[in-house]
Parts: sequence; structure tokens; C-alpha cells
Amino acid sequence: MKKLIAGNWKMNGSNGENKQLLSGIAQLLEQIPAIHKHCEMLVCPPSVYLSDVTNATKGTGIETGAQDCSHHSNGAYTGDIAATMIRDTGASYVILGHSERRQYHDETSTMVSWKASSAHEAGLKAIICVGEKEHEREQGIECEIVKEQLLDSLPDSANADNTIIAYEPVWAIGTGKTASKDDVASMHSFIRDTLKNNIASGENIRILYGGSMKPENAGELLATENVDGGLIGGASLKADHFIAIAKAAI
Ligand code: PGA
Repeated sequence: MKKLIAGNWKMNGSNGENKQLLSGIAQLLEQIPAIHKHCEMLVCPPSVYLSDVTNATKGTGIETGAQDCSHHSNGAYTGDIAATMIRDTGASYVILGHSERRQYHDETSTMVSWKASSAHEAGLKAIICVGEKEHEREQGIECEIVKEQLLDSLPDSANADNTIIAYEPVWAIGTGKTASKDDVASMHSFIRDTLKNNIASGENIRILYGGSMKPENAGELLATENVDGGLIGGASLKADHFIAIAKAAI
């Protein structure tokens, strides 16, 4: 299975900056063709740039995705964007239930499952994010929290072709703190077991790690069992860092 190296650009970029970043990524990818053999490359810009970024990636082997979608298919939902509209731009993925959406937009796991179901209907692959907060890990309840998020966020339509899980411990996102190799190994194996026991083809669902992944720690994290790629925030905004992470997966 190829590793999925996914850049979550969050609310960053501009037309000019996106062009520069993409051409930097494409140039470096051309220099290291082995990356495509081992990795699937994905960038997720803010939705307003999705069409342009998708057009600009044609021929580069880079796929595109959104950072959220509505669970409604269309209608009077000012400001919202339907999964079908995202698909219409040519994008193939959508990140759902990121901790920043759970925190700042009060998204619950049930809402995430509605969104994922809508994404699947539109033909998008859903990257469903889960992860415990720092105080939950301190209390030793991280597995309970992650299991509940997983089971409540996964719709009935989820399978290994249309769903990817991203384990992102909230305390590691954008903080420079990374979970230890052992913590990642044990949480990913717990997620794998939970998927196997509850979802058809759960043994083949890719599980990404996210949270301060960078060139210096990517090799170790990506070599960990049941780590099938990375969801990368800050480091995905620098072409050389993003590609160095992919290179570490080879
Ligand atoms: P980070 O973000 O790599 O900047 O920690 C990861 C994410 O939020 O997806």
C-alpha cells in the first residue's frame, strides 16, 4: 500500500503563494521520481482555491482535497459548500472532523459521520480525524476517547477505498510536540483493531499520523507499524519540507 502524504494548508496561502508552493513541490517531485512509487501526494488548500490548485496540479501526480464539507447536498445554507461542489472542482479528498473544526465550530462526531456519508455519495474520499486532548492523555483515557470518536464518526458507507483515518493528538498539532514512536505505535495498533472489529475491510483502511510531523521525525514515524502516511500542517507550507517528509517514506 502506498503511503498517503497529505498537506493540510489550513487557512493559509494566496493565489501567488499557492502557485509558488505548488511549483516548488512539482519541481522537487520531478527530481525524485521514486516518491510517486511509494507515496500518494495530496494537498488540501482553502476551498476558494481548490479549482485553481486542482488545475495547476494536472500532470504532476498530486491530488487535491478540501478541508471540510457540508452534510447537506444543496439549498439555503449560506456559506456552506457541498461535497458534490468539491468533487466538481476535480478534487478527490476531503478532510473531516479536524480538531480545529471540532473545537472552533463545535463539530460533533455525529456531524462528522453525516459529512463523511455525503462525501462518499459525492465520490470523495474522506480523511476522518480523531485524537485526544492533552488532559485526556494525562488521565489515561486516550483510547476510550479515540474509540468513541472513531465509532461515532464513521458512517455505514465507510470502507478501505473511500475512508482514511488521521490520528492527530490535539496536543501535538502546531505545537512542535510530537507523540513518541511508542505512543504512536500503540495508538495506531489500537485504531487498527477497532477498525478491524467494526468495519468491513477495516484491516485495509489507511491510518495517518498528524501533529508536528516534520522532516526530522518523519522517517521514524512513517516507519512505525500501522502508520500509512501523514497529515501535515505547518511543514506542508514549505515545498522542501513537504517533499523531505515524502522522501522519508521511501
Ligand atoms: P501540524 O498540523 O503539522 O502543523 O501540527 C497537523 C494538522 O493539524 O493536520
